[in-house]
Amino acid sequence: MNGISWSWFRYNESRARLEDMKRVIALANQKGGVGKTTTAVNLAASLTATKRRVLLIDLDPQGNATMGCGIDKHAQSRTSCDVLLGDCGAVEALLPVEYGGFMLMPANQDLTAAEIRLLTMAVGREFKLRNALSPVRGDFDVILVDCPPSLNMLTLNALVAADSVMVPMQCEYYALEGLTSLMQTIEQIKDSINPVLEIEGLLRTMFDPRNNLANEVSAQLIEHFGEKVFRTMIPRNVRLAEAPSFGKPALFHDKESRGALAYLALAGEMIRRDELPGAPPGDLPPGDLPPGDLPPGDLPPGDLPGDLPGAPV
Ligand SMILES: Nc1ncnc2c1ncn2[C@@H]1O[C@H](COP(=O)(O)OP(=O)(O)OP(=O)(O)O)[C@@H](O)[C@H]1O
Ligand SMILES: [Mg+2]
Repeated sequence: MNGISWSWFRYNESRARLEDMKRVIALANQKGGVGKTTTAVNLAASLTATKRRVLLIDLDPQGNATMGCGIDKHAQSRTSCDVLLGDCGAVEALLPVEYGGFMLMPANQDLTAAEIRLLTMAVGREFKLRNALSPVRGDFDVILVDCPPSLNMLTLNALVAADSVMVPMQCEYYALEGLTSLMQTIEQIKDSINPVLEIEGLLRTMFDPRNNLANEVSAQLIEHFGEKVFRTMIPRNVRLAEAPSFGKPALFHDKESRGALAYLALAGEMIRRDELPGAPPGDLPPGDLPPGDLPPGDLPPGDLPGDLPGAPV
């Protein structure tokens, strides 16, 4: 088989596997500033780089994901507010993200008003996002929903629409405390309105391995949640912090940065988890090691950007 045939084969093989990956993932943690939006934007770019069709939904009135994608949140005629209130269909509110290659449903402060309107509705208010997404679900491999830092009606809509929840968290003293109420909320939703809801994984963000407390909290997390804790850790990295000011994911701001590589490694870990369902972490291939343990440039093998035509690295 020549090189072209191999690429064709690999591309189609990966597309067949993608069908299995289809899901809506809510990025939620009621604690503020833990890296939900940074994860949403950078994971969207990394999954797109592996040829997944990705939609990012900004469900936070702060509109940080929208701005981080280089889109002016004040200049949008259609946003997730209109979609939640039924004033337009989901497809009418989608925009292409130039530096990222994925689609975005933007948000701005209007969402606060939408939340208040939802609260006054007697029935069906928690199903608004789920119902609105049903016509576009099939068009994407992964839909990421960036939630606000609160367990409010917006987050509830995300958790009802989602197949799984990813919980970005910083390994610090109060981290575990907030986690208990989030886990209880997830269990309640699973037991009542959304029985398919799973924990996608807990993601350690802004991780500094030189910090003893961070290591202790990290060990406790693994003790409590085991394989639900992603092996990939996102390091504290200045490129991740400054990329939003350029309106780009880190992959398009500095593709060699540790932050950009960490989010590529996270995408790789998610893809491998899907390929080896039920495998205990110890059985996963060595590419699943945290990025800090990999030699520079030694990304996990598979559908990574450098392997694919037209990829951004
Ligand atoms: N790995 C990282 N390294 C350095 N800075 C980071 C990292 N992750 C996030 N930040 C910075 O930390 C701040 C909070 O991150 P982010 O906005 O992603 O959190 P959030 O959970 O979405 O916040 P909110 O709860 O307000 O929505 C931002 O200034 C962001 O640029
Ligand atoms: Mg945010």
